[in-house]
Amino acid sequence: MHALIVVSHPKPGSFTHSIANQVAEGIAASGAHSFEIADLAAEGFDPRFSAQDHAFFVGEGKLPADVAAEQARLDRSDALVLVYPVFWWSFPGLLKGWIDRVFTNGWAYVEEPDGRIVRKLGRLPVHLIAVAGANMRTYARHGYFGAMKTQIDHGIFDYCGAPVARSELLVPDERSHEAHLDTVRTIGRSLFAG
Ligand SMILES: Cc1cc2nc3c(=O)[nH]c(=O)nc-3n(C[C@H](O)[C@H](O)[C@H](O)COP(=O)(O)O)c2cc1C
Repeated sequence: MHALIVVSHPKPGSFTHSIANQVAEGIAASGAHSFEIADLAAEGFDPRFSAQDHAFFVGEGKLPADVAAEQARLDRSDALVLVYPVFWWSFPGLLKGWIDRVFTNGWAYVEEPDGRIVRKLGRLPVHLIAVAGANMRTYARHGYFGAMKTQIDHGIFDYCGAPVARSELLVPDERSHEAHLDTVRTIGRSLFAG
């Protein structure tokens, strides 16, 4: 089995990148599975939903080549892992733009003429790993993690039928960086178990 690990952070040496790398190491340590890391910032992915994206959305143009390439990576993957810092209680804009552009009508879901939505990503389990700056008390007080789950887990992935296998929020006050790294390595090792 093959995992696509998408990481969205501008700094290669960041904690967020360490988390993505540990998930990858865990997958490698399983001995049976493979991974690819999609580092959106390093690869220069353009998150802007362009006129060409819009033309495709309304059925009047071709799918942009960079979007087709991202869909091809997902088509050859058996699981998607998203690793990102929480920016304004959600995805960073770079990752949101990746979703906006790549999860197209026709590929991620199909909107039928009668308005019915056909979910197309039932074969793709999703593992979400968000790295927080604020503490758990702040998340609890305002319901921010619940809001993120509504918007991301349900609003995006459930809409497309992709099962959310895991939704983690790594908060700085609960455990040390090392403990978080251990946890995600275990997640990587057991990504395809069961
Ligand atoms: C633009 C911006 C917005 C942020 N918004 C939030 C936020 O809403 N909630 C939060 O917990 N942390 C927020 N943070 C803090 C980051 O989540 C935190 O710095 C990051 O997860 C730490 O990981 P790193 O060491 O890999 O950068 C924000 C940081 C930036 C730069």
